[in-house]
Amino acid sequence: MIQARTVAALREATDRIRAEGETLAFVPTMGCLHAGHLALVERARTEADRVVVSVFVNPSQFAPGEDLAAYPRVEEADCAKLEAAGVDIVFLPTEDALYPAGDQTIVELSAIPNHLCGLTRPIHFRGVATVCAKLFGAVGPDVVVFGEKDFQQLAVIRRMVSDLLLPIQVVGVATVREPDGLALSSRNQYLSPDERERACSLHRALRDAAERVADGERDAQTIRQHMEATLTESGSILDYVAVVDPETLDPLDTVEAEARALVAVQFGAARLIDNIALRPPA
Ligand code: PAJ
Repeated sequence: MIQARTVAALREATDRIRAEGETLAFVPTMGCLHAGHLALVERARTEADRVVVSVFVNPSQFAPGEDLAAYPRVEEADCAKLEAAGVDIVFLPTEDALYPAGDQTIVELSAIPNHLCGLTRPIHFRGVATVCAKLFGAVGPDVVVFGEKDFQQLAVIRRMVSDLLLPIQVVGVATVREPDGLALSSRNQYLSPDERERACSLHRALRDAAERVADGERDAQTIRQHMEATLTESGSILDYVAVVDPETLDPLDTVEAEARALVAVQFGAARLIDNIALRPPA
């Protein structure tokens, strides 16, 4: 596995791959890798000849007071996992490599970030879109792979790739979960044992919503109220509980076609998000 720390070193490796006529799949991450990230790598390996993974804790997507400083950084362990997973190139850029002196370009979407996580994290998706545009430019992938776990992020990336006419295929991968349903996340380590036990309420609330819709419930308010009750009973503090259009993330009153339910809650120091597809009966 090649380790590249500069864009020049990365390009040397990717140019060689392209000269041989091989395709590239790319998985951006912030490290502290778990089985969720590795599922993206596995999928990437089926989508292209070679796989590039980046590990970069992107400062521009964290607001002051968020967990940028505390975000776990375990580069050696991450590289060992990526090597074992058959990754060809790991890109470990410095902040200067991605944000060169005099940098002044920001990528900002006008509508998708005005919902859900974007309301409490107003600069977050601008940071994500900007760093992903830079990473896509550095790597030059044919395919990029993202998790459905961060569903709003996936929607932002799909829209950005389409709007900027980037010749890249965007692939979404289903969320990898603990046996009790809790979505794997680097932030789960902020949970106390008691909070960890109660945190399975996110998936329970979402699964219940999906079952209600499959059984014919169409009213978004009813669906949301049941989810809110489950989450509140588990002792979490609600940020949002939403039923939305899966592409625009605009809120829905009734579920007529495939929709998405999304939740965000606070359990102690951990802010947890999760989501599920809502599919009405044919
Ligand atoms: P990070 O949180 O490290 O996540 C990297 C990728 O792993 C994202 O596409 C995320 O959706 C996916 N992922 C996380 N947990 C998952 C799970 N349990 N199952 C499946 N996929 C999962 O998301 C980011 O980093 C950053 O915002 C980034 C895109 C790298 C830009 O800085």
